[in-house]
Amino acid sequence: MINITVLNKAGEERLLEVPEDMGLNLMEILKANEYNVLATCGGMAMCGTCHVQVLEGMDNLGAHSDAELDMLDTLPDAESNSRLSCQLQINENMDGAVFKLMAEEDIAV
Ligand code: FES
Repeated sequence: MINITVLNKAGEERLLEVPEDMGLNLMEILKANEYNVLATCGGMAMCGTCHVQVLEGMDNLGAHSDAELDMLDTLPDAESNSRLSCQLQINENMDGAVFKLMAEEDIAV
């Protein structure tokens, strides 16, 4: 297991313990932890609704794919530390990383 920290749009922080050996990506982990990430394309780097910013640990993540960069280019709030969480495979190098959700939907009550 590894630990990552997630900040939601309101800035509330949670430490998540995540299995690094199940072939999951970060978007799947966020949904499993009940963050309201739409991920409408199902992880194909085509919707941008799984956008996160990496506050710590950027250097330990793999390089962007062309598809990820193309999608990030279309997002008005993308910064140099932006990633698509569906393109971030969970692995041991991610231990200690901090992510801020940029596209979390408000949960309807
Ligand atoms: S889920 Fe659509 S771009 Fe990540």
